[in-house]
Amino acid sequence: MKYQIKASKNLAVKTDCLVVAVRPLKNMSSQQRELNDKTGKAIDRLQAAGLLSGKKKQIVSLPAPSGVGASKILFVGIGRAKKLDSESVRILLNGLARQLKDLGPDTVSFDLAALVSKSDMQTVSRHLIEALGDSQYRYIKQPKAARDNAKKKQLKCTILCDSRTLAAQARKGAAIGQAINNGKTLAKNLANMPGNICTPSYLASQARKLGNSHGLKVRVLNEKQMRELGMGSLLSVSLGSRQPAKLIVMQYTGAKNKAQAPHALVGKGLTFDAGGISLKPSPKMDEMKYDMCGAASVFGALLAAAELQLPINIVGVVPSSENLPDGSANKPGDVVTSMSGQTIEILNTDAEGRLILCDALTYTERFKPQTVIDIATLTGAVIVALGHQTAGVMGNDQGVIDDLLAAGDTSLDFAWQLPLKETYKKQLKSEYADLANIGGPSAGTITAGCFLSYFAEKFRWAHLDIAGTAWGGSVGKRASGRAVPILTQYLIDRCQ
Ligand code: BES
Ligand code: MN
Ligand code: ZN
Repeated sequence: MKYQIKASKNLAVKTDCLVVAVRPLKNMSSQQRELNDKTGKAIDRLQAAGLLSGKKKQIVSLPAPSGVGASKILFVGIGRAKKLDSESVRILLNGLARQLKDLGPDTVSFDLAALVSKSDMQTVSRHLIEALGDSQYRYIKQPKAARDNAKKKQLKCTILCDSRTLAAQARKGAAIGQAINNGKTLAKNLANMPGNICTPSYLASQARKLGNSHGLKVRVLNEKQMRELGMGSLLSVSLGSRQPAKLIVMQYTGAKNKAQAPHALVGKGLTFDAGGISLKPSPKMDEMKYDMCGAASVFGALLAAAELQLPINIVGVVPSSENLPDGSANKPGDVVTSMSGQTIEILNTDAEGRLILCDALTYTERFKPQTVIDIATLTGAVIVALGHQTAGVMGNDQGVIDDLLAAGDTSLDFAWQLPLKETYKKQLKSEYADLANIGGPSAGTITAGCFLSYFAEKFRWAHLDIAGTAWGGSVGKRASGRAVPILTQYLIDRCQ
């Protein structure tokens, strides 16, 4: 998708589709009044006929209007503007974007001035670009359709603003929206890819590609190197797989001071989670190709950060493996030694995410990070607690948690804090090791967070459980691109 911002007092632009946001009745802006005049009072006539009330989510199309450059006009009702917070704006724009997808114009121009009330033009533009990006997204079928899809034409959109001030705001918002959009697209592409193609080695190759295109320093550790570091927990998950595990490290250096402490993003990269010997049931097991959405979010957020040239340093750490049953796979009751030295009794081989993340967290200590966020499709329990709408947040530093929650609100990629209290930790007691890898049937998301906390003692840390938000829900069996928005916003906010 391509976009441009135009400071123009005139809505008579040449375009396949002109989108005009309207408030209920009469409240026309001067440009809308001019549009009304130019189109032979089309707005007046639609309103007189009761076809255009401007109520929220109403979309009225005016085909082949005369007197203007647009082939058609879409009037979008926005309801009483004072009620419109950024979430309502986004819902409205999502609906509009879906309608545009069905109409399929090559070019579209937007007059969204009426939407600017509680939300400013920067927010409106940002969410417009993201909504369009979501609706325009198409998965490139693997492997042979890639060529056909490469030719796919891109939507060209223009945001019309009647003043330079508004145009400047729109430009800022659209740039953020576009960067997040590109990050989400990368995350969606990686996540939707089948597990036989998107393996740990494939993720590593994509990291190198991202490094080359966006100036990141990339290093990939193989199993031998991980063994030398003592990553017995991470490597144990990969024992049942023919695909070698990888630890992918991507460094973005945007700060003037190259030695400035980075913010670390650690993403779970399970390219397929069958559960191992604690095998998962067959229905919907295919969805466990999405168990690398934490990793995909790290790729996406780094891409967005690089495109926005954020003046901070960031390190992305992605532990990647498959989790499959096999004669040499982990067995319930096995004890492994993590890189931290702490031993772990694996009571359920399906609680594998924490086993790869714990060593990745210990590895991350070497970067002396300012903050560490890990992102993982870690527990089914978070879907029970928060559904597909909201991610779960825990951590050892309320400041980091609050910053992450705030980034979720700004980006509309919502998160909610769960209590990481001492009292839950006893559920991880083991007879045979320092820790058990499961904490029993209650508070599954929290005990998973507790487990990770034992490996995050040396830095300010928060954990984001995206098992509910990364795919599914109203998005269907598709990757949503989350948590790219919340992570990117978190990084943007660190630049002040
Ligand atoms: N990747 C899964 C979590 C998951 C499950 C994500 C369903 C999305 C949908 C994770 O590795 C897992 O299997 N977790 C177990 C933990 C349990 C064994 C303590 C779970 O949630 O059932
Ligand atoms: Mn699992
Ligand atoms: Zn998993």
